[in-house]
Amino acid sequence: MSDNTFGNIFRVTTWGESHGEAIGVVVDGCPTELELSEADVQHELDRRKPGVSELTTERKEEDEVKILSGVFDGKTLGTPISMLVWNKDVDSSPYERIKNVARPGQADFTYQMKYGIRDYRGGGRASGRETAARVAAGAIAKKILAMHDIQILGHVVEIGGIIAKEVGIEELKTNVDKNAVRCADLEAAGKMEALIKQVKAAGDSVGGIVEVIALDVPTGLGEPVFDKLDAELANALMSIGAVKGVEIGAGFAAARMKGSEMNDEFIIKEGRISTRTNNAGGILGGISTGAPVVCRIAVKPTASISKPQRSVDMAKMEEVELEIEGRHDPCICPRIVPVAEAMVALVLVDCWMRLITTRLH
Ligand SMILES: Cc1cc2nc3c(=O)[nH]c(=O)nc-3n(C[C@H](O)[C@H](O)[C@H](O)COP(=O)(O)O)c2cc1C
Repeated sequence: MSDNTFGNIFRVTTWGESHGEAIGVVVDGCPTELELSEADVQHELDRRKPGVSELTTERKEEDEVKILSGVFDGKTLGTPISMLVWNKDVDSSPYERIKNVARPGQADFTYQMKYGIRDYRGGGRASGRETAARVAAGAIAKKILAMHDIQILGHVVEIGGIIAKEVGIEELKTNVDKNAVRCADLEAAGKMEALIKQVKAAGDSVGGIVEVIALDVPTGLGEPVFDKLDAELANALMSIGAVKGVEIGAGFAAARMKGSEMNDEFIIKEGRISTRTNNAGGILGGISTGAPVVCRIAVKPTASISKPQRSVDMAKMEEVELEIEGRHDPCICPRIVPVAEAMVALVLVDCWMRLITTRLH
C-alpha cells in the first residue's frame, strides 16, 4: 500500500491500524532547534481522543504520545521525529462475526477488492484512529506556524441541518472548547447536542459541516499551478475519512453570485493592500492574499450505525442483514475539528517552507 506520506518539505508518514499494537507518525523536514515536548503534542491529541463525552465513541484511549526520536534536550535535531501512541482499549470481538461482511459506508469493500487482505478489526488502516497520528504531526506544524503568529481555529458550524449563527473571532476562541460539539454559537450547540443524543438512541448517526480559519497567514503561500494553496487544502481535507466536500471562501455559493458580488475589492487598510470582503477565502490564483484562509468541510453521517442494514458476505457471496455492534461516534464532526486543523497546519507549514525557497527578498 503506497501513499502514506503527505507533504513536500515538511513530510509526514503515518502508520498503524486501529486495533494493532500502536499507531504513529514520522515527521521529516522539521527545522532544528524547535522547542518540542510531549506535552505540546499531548494537548492536541487530548482534543481528538475518544471517550471524552457521551457524544463520542465509548472507546476510552488515553492516547498518550511518546516521542521516540528527533528531539534532544527538548529541541528538535532536524532528524526524523518519530511519535507513537499505543492502542490500549481494543475490543475486536464485535468485528469477528462480521469480518467478511462489507459494512455500508465503510472501506471494507474497496480495501478487500484492491488488496485482497485487510485488518478488519475496527476498520484497520481506514479507521478514524489513524488521524491521531496526523494530529500529533499537526501539533508540530502548529508550533512552527505560531512562531510566525499564524493561528488555526476550527469549529463546527452545522450538524444535522442545525446551523450555527456567525460569531466574531474572539467569541469563537472563547466558546469553542466550552461545549462537547465544538460550536461557538452556544444556543445552536445545545440543539446539536440534543440531536446527536436523539439519533444515537435511535441507533443512527448524523453529519455536519466543520469550518477551519487560518489567521494572519502572510501573502504568498501556495504554488501557482498544480500545487495551488486551495488545491493542497482540498487534498489534505478530503483525505480525512468521512469528508465528502470542501469549500474555500464563498465555496459553492460563488456559483450563485454575480461578479460584482463575488469580487473582493482592494482597499488600503493601515497602510497595507487589503480587501473589503473575503469571498475568495484568502486565496487568489492559488496563492494566499493575506486575508484569513477559510475552509469548510462536509462530514457525512457516521457509517457505523446499529440500525439493521442490508449488505453482502464477500466470502460466501450472499446477501445478509447486518447489525453493527461496537463503539462508534454518532457524529464525527466534533472530533474532526482538531484533525482538520492539523491538516490545514501541515499544508501551511509546507507552503511556508516552499515560500522561503522562492525569492531572496
Ligand atoms: C476522527 C474520526 C473518527 C471516526 N470515527 C468513526 C466511527 O466511529 N465510525 C465510523 O463508521 N466511521 C468513523 N470515521 C469515518 C471512517 O473512518 C470513514 O467514513 C471510512 O473509513 C470510509 O471512508 P470515507 O467516508 O472517507 O469514504 C471516523 C473518522 C474520523 C476522522
